[in-house]
Amino acid sequence: MKKGYLVIIGTILLAACGTTKLIQPTQADAERGSQKFTNLTLAQLNQGKELYEQNCSICHGIKKPESRNEDQWNKIVPNMAEKVNRKKGEGTINNEKQEILLKYLVTMSHSQVK
Ligand code: HEC
Repeated sequence: MKKGYLVIIGTILLAACGTTKLIQPTQADAERGSQKFTNLTLAQLNQGKELYEQNCSICHGIKKPESRNEDQWNKIVPNMAEKVNRKKGEGTINNEKQEILLKYLVTMSHSQVK
């Protein structure tokens, strides 16, 4: 298992990318998101944020969830998850993690609007 290795890399990346501040999901976000994603929890949103921070800033700066809309994220995430898997190993972002990542991005992409 390369888990320890990934945790170390993730920690380094987090420290290196400390300048991009992502909004911390709240219970209100989870409730809003659950209208679209049944049974969405705050824990899932936080997991999505973590996956995002750890995997999506390797090649470029982290992009704000609100910089893209739902349709765009639906197209971008599968594409980029493949890039992550090519770089960090197959299954780094498996289907289940991809779903969580997508739920996080789509939910938070609405958080600034309204
Ligand atoms: C292996 C390198 C690599 C990784 C890892 C990576 N990206 Fe990218 N990303 C790129 C490159 C190269 C581009 C520009 C070309 C393109 O769109 O394919 C890009 C472009 C993008 C764009 C702009 C595309 C658009 O059409 O607006 C977004 C948003 C994005 N990445 C999000 C992500 C997310 C989310 C993740 C994590 C799941 C991620 N990236 C991981 C290399 C990477």
